[in-house]
Amino acid sequence: MSDRMRLNLFTMNSVEHVSVGSWRLPGDQSHRYRDREYWTDVARTAERGGFDAVFFADVRGVYDVYGDNRETAVEKAVQTPSNDPAYLIPAMAEVTDDLGFAVTKSTSYNHPYQLAREFSTLDHLTDGRVAFNVVTSYLESAAANLGYDDRMDHDERYDRADEFMDVLYALWEASWDDDAVVRDPDSGVYTDPEGVSAVDHEGDHFDVPGPHGAEPSPQRTPVLYQAGSSDRGREFAAEHAEAVFVSQPSAEAVADYVDDLRERAASHGRDPDELAFFPGIVPVVGETEAVAEAKYEAYTDAIDTEGVLALLSGFVDVDLSEIDPDQQLEHIETEAIQGVVNAFTANDDRDWTVREVAEFAGLGTTSPVVVGTPEQVADEFEYWFEDVGVDGFNVKEVARPDSLRDFVDLVVPELRERGLLREEYDGETLRETTFGRRGLPDGHPGSR
Ligand SMILES: Cc1cc2nc3c(=O)[nH]c(=O)nc-3n(C[C@H](O)[C@H](O)[C@H](O)COP(=O)(O)O)c2cc1C
Repeated sequence: MSDRMRLNLFTMNSVEHVSVGSWRLPGDQSHRYRDREYWTDVARTAERGGFDAVFFADVRGVYDVYGDNRETAVEKAVQTPSNDPAYLIPAMAEVTDDLGFAVTKSTSYNHPYQLAREFSTLDHLTDGRVAFNVVTSYLESAAANLGYDDRMDHDERYDRADEFMDVLYALWEASWDDDAVVRDPDSGVYTDPEGVSAVDHEGDHFDVPGPHGAEPSPQRTPVLYQAGSSDRGREFAAEHAEAVFVSQPSAEAVADYVDDLRERAASHGRDPDELAFFPGIVPVVGETEAVAEAKYEAYTDAIDTEGVLALLSGFVDVDLSEIDPDQQLEHIETEAIQGVVNAFTANDDRDWTVREVAEFAGLGTTSPVVVGTPEQVADEFEYWFEDVGVDGFNVKEVARPDSLRDFVDLVVPELRERGLLREEYDGETLRETTFGRRGLPDGHPGSR
């Protein structure tokens, strides 16, 4: 476990992310997602609060499972429209010194040769402050738009992701020597060809001779995040992730998940303590209990239940408009996000109806919501950090940008007062500020 709490802001370059309906709150600025200044303000605020990174979710395709059409998702702005998060990063890096940026990219529809170069570019431009959230894509509509007849099967997506990572590691870690670039005007040698190697990857999904097109960036491999929660997804996370984004609705479920992932990491030859765990959490904070409760009431009133169901239907690939809201959610095997189904069906302590899931998921989907004064919210964060054993949090927003601002102005001082949160950044790259190490750890497949 870490000695200091880490924080990410979990957001998306879109109107609605995981609190569907919140764009209707008075003063909400979600519609400004297209505006550079909105994001540079977010970056400044997050850095003021000592956050490790702004973590961008991203998705391909439209949520058209609910009612078997896209109408609800489009009407309610359910992760559509959205813009590509990667292009925001240079602007946000320009106004900050230490804050990191996690960018979600899919291994299902990108090519590793291309993606390696994109991340190397971002890592150069940010002086090593970039993380890659490795996802596999779950929406059928993405496959159709990207030239595939069908979405790949769940486990096959992870097989492709494994090979994708192998190609990336070869390009990032093994293709260019540290001293390959000599830049010697007298001899006319910019790069010593001896220091640049092919990677000669031949596999089931990719043939990549290499070499990598970009010279080594400060981190070489960006910090690796993953959120797999099915059995196959956990195997993948245990092998590749440096930090795992946990999405479970209770402390017990999170603790079980952490134990399981650490065991799996050890079976992959890794030091299990090297994995860091970040559950999602939704803080709703006010100067007094009454103020916090009033905000919570306003937030829950704004929830758009139909929009939430459209989002969840896409997550689990089941048309929830067809199910009686008072029916208990049964365990289903899905080709989409098995982890979301498990979050509500695999815990012994509670049964959920569809209606209850929709209400719970209205603020932050599968994450706990914490309502209270700065002290009460800090107590809860401290409990998760000290007793449940997580390393930090992906803080989910409801009101934008008020949720972030409230947290930084009210909760951050309390966490700092308790010695839980950094006063200043130490280290230059994101990997240094978050993990205190420069490169990938020894047992990691990327360093092997
Ligand atoms: C907490 C969490 C966050 C995720 N974020 C994204 C995302 O931003 N974009 C995306 O395409 N998939 C995202 N996913 C989906 C995963 O990439 C993956 O497709 C999904 O979890 C299916 O794997 P699983 O069955 O192992 O859970 C996320 C999943 C979880 C649990």
